Parts: sequence; structure tokens; C-alpha cells
Amino acid sequence: NKQLLPVYDKPMVYYPLSTLMLAGIRDILIITTAEARPLFERLLGDGGPLGLNLAYAVQERPNGLPEAFIVGRGFLDGGSCAMILGDNIFHGQAFAERLRQAVGRHRGATVFAYPVSDPRRFGVVGWDEDGRVASLVEKPAAPPSNWALTGLYFFDHRVSAIAAGLKPSARGELEIVDLMGDYLERGELAVEKLEGDYTWLDTGTQESLLQAAVYVENIERSQGLKIACVEEIALNQGFIDMDAFKRRAEALPPSAYGSYLCGLAKER
Ligand code: G1P
Repeated sequence: NKQLLPVYDKPMVYYPLSTLMLAGIRDILIITTAEARPLFERLLGDGGPLGLNLAYAVQERPNGLPEAFIVGRGFLDGGSCAMILGDNIFHGQAFAERLRQAVGRHRGATVFAYPVSDPRRFGVVGWDEDGRVASLVEKPAAPPSNWALTGLYFFDHRVSAIAAGLKPSARGELEIVDLMGDYLERGELAVEKLEGDYTWLDTGTQESLLQAAVYVENIERSQGLKIACVEEIALNQGFIDMDAFKRRAEALPPSAYGSYLCGLAKER
């Protein structure tokens, strides 16, 4: 399972998990295949040591991303939510503030677009002359722009009902662009451009996985900090206190990641 592979010094899933944590989200449903579920449970457990409530569910067949909101309907219990794909890595100084703004919008949907050199690999947004969203297309042969739709989505409480009403596309899947399209038709979709000091990395190919690892190594070495250190984020967000942080740091097997946590515990 790709999301359990390391991206430089930590499992890939730590990166999307940390994005949700920066958004202030603590109740998280992890949707996996049946085979992978016990592996994720072994890695992340119930989330208690990170101050999270983690639950697990299985998507039996790859019927498309919107099925997450059908599988997760009971978990959401009529609330609004965010979904992040397990291979999406976001980094940027001001990102936490953008996330909090998206969480704060209680009606409609918010998604993020990022300029890429190979838009055919992604969902893509097309813009009209006034800069409004004109189209949302999944992996287009002729992309209407180079703005890829990233795998981070904020939806209001109607998302499960809307997902349940979607029809499979020609490739037999429920499509995330159709779910967004429903909100767009209602005039309730915000597509925010991530411009300037933001990095979005996807790890969908061997090359992009390697590039992501190189990026993380570069930032961590030059800045002397860690990206997506979930324990540090839990502490900074007030999800856990210093005692819980120290217990966690001491329980980790010897590694550069564990030493980093022990160093932080001594510093503070
Ligand atoms: C999915 C979405 C696509 C999005 C991408 C981002 O594609 O369907 O719209 O741009 O994630 O990572 P996948 O990578 O699952 O093929």
C-alpha cells in the first residue's frame, strides 16, 4: 500500500494526516482496502497518543472517490467534513490559515487548484474570461488549463446525500469532479488557487515519489525542522500536552525521527 511507504523519513500517510491536523480536525475516518486496514491500524491505532479520534472503514471496490462519503455517512453523522487523499503532500507557511478559513465556511464546498506541468494526470479546472470556474474535468486529453485540482476537499453537510445521487461515469466510477460540479451548479463551489509560497506534491509516479522525498529532505536539512511531524503538530495544536508528547517520543524506536522528538522535548 503506497500510503505506508516512506517519503524520506516518515510514512506517506503522515503528510495528509498532518494537513487535517493543521486544519484543526481531530475526528478522522481512514478508508482503505480490506487488506491494508490492519496495517494502518497497526501504524496509527485509535490516534489517542496524538490526541486524535481515528476510525477505520473499508471501501470494498475502487468505485471512485465520492464513495468515501457514502462509506463514511454514519461517521459524518450529518456534519460537514474534509477529505484528503493519502498520497497528497501540501507545504506552505500560510497554509494553516487557508485551511482554517475553509473549515470556517459552513455552506458549500472549497477545493484547491495548483499549477502543474502535466495536467493530464489530474482533475483539471477550466476558467472563463472573468476568472470564474467554467469546467471541471478528470484527466482530460486536452486540458483546459494547467491548474490541477488537488486531493483536498471541504464539503458541507449535504455531501453524502449528493454523493449518493451521482451516476458512474463512462469508466464506471463515481467522479470527484461530478461531486464538485454539483456544488458548482448551485453556485456554492470555491476553487482556491494555491499560488506563491505553496508546494503541492503528488506521489503518483515513481519520479514524483522520489521528487517528494528530495523536497522533504531539502527543507528539513536547510531549516532544521520537520515537515508533517504529527507529534509536534499535535503538541502545537494543543491536542496533547508535553507529558503525552514526551511519552510518545520515548516510546519510538531509535531513529532520526525519534531523536528529533526527544530534542524538541528537551528544548521546550
Ligand atoms: C485523484 C482525483 C484527481 C486529483 C488527484 C490529486 O486522482 O481523481 O481529480 O487531481 O487525485 O492527487 P488519482 O490520483 O486518484 O488518479
